[in-house]
Amino acid sequence: MTNLVAHWDHRAENYDETPGNSLTPEQAEAWKSMLADVYPTRSGKLLDIGCGTGTYSLLFAELGFEVHGVDTSEGMIARAREKALSRSGPGGPPAVMFSVLDAQHISGRYDAVFSRNMLWTVADPGRLTAVVGEHTTKSAVWVAVETMWDGRPNGDFRDTGEHLPGFGGWHPNVLREVFARHGFTRTTWSSISNRSELATADKDIHVLFRVSR
Ligand SMILES: C[S@@+](CC[C@H](N)C(=O)[O-])C[C@H]1O[C@@H](n2cnc3c(N)ncnc32)[C@H](O)[C@@H]1O
Repeated sequence: MTNLVAHWDHRAENYDETPGNSLTPEQAEAWKSMLADVYPTRSGKLLDIGCGTGTYSLLFAELGFEVHGVDTSEGMIARAREKALSRSGPGGPPAVMFSVLDAQHISGRYDAVFSRNMLWTVADPGRLTAVVGEHTTKSAVWVAVETMWDGRPNGDFRDTGEHLPGFGGWHPNVLREVFARHGFTRTTWSSISNRSELATADKDIHVLFRVSR
């Protein structure tokens, strides 16, 4: 297990206390409504990269996507599976599958992609973008939500964080270039900061990228 995987595993138990992972019903509805507007369709196979405890994967299942949430942390995936089971309704559990999987090793083909606060955690987002490119349909849209904040690696992140060039958040123009280099030539981004209905009203900057070919 790498230090980074161990880091996220260690945080899995309390991860739902982090901002944006304990959405109120109103905040969940606001996210769904915004996401439904950003993707061209609300069906097909959606990949949630670095899904954590599955907060957003479950929203996509409610929107109508067939969701595959992947994360390298066993702890995160265990929590995500528990959460999905707890949401079982009369029709059974939500249409979401969770796998302990490094996103570099995905297979199959997806119609849509989502990631939230994942790209800053990888040393080489270009490598990941190339893999996403190989495993998506031509018309796939990737929505990446990323945060920029003022801080240095500390606490149990001191060692691992020092090796992450994206710590503190990637500049949007840097990510735009990375996406373009790997075939995703159309990227728009906008701030979703200070929107209490989306649980982003804090001191950080929250950016939503819409990425396509
Ligand atoms: C900051 S957390 C974000 C979790 C969740 N997406 C959210 O919105 O709260 C980053 C997650 O990405 C996962 N991760 C990092 N690198 C990964 C990789 N190569 N493949 C799959 N998951 C990865 C970590 O285990 C962690 O759960």
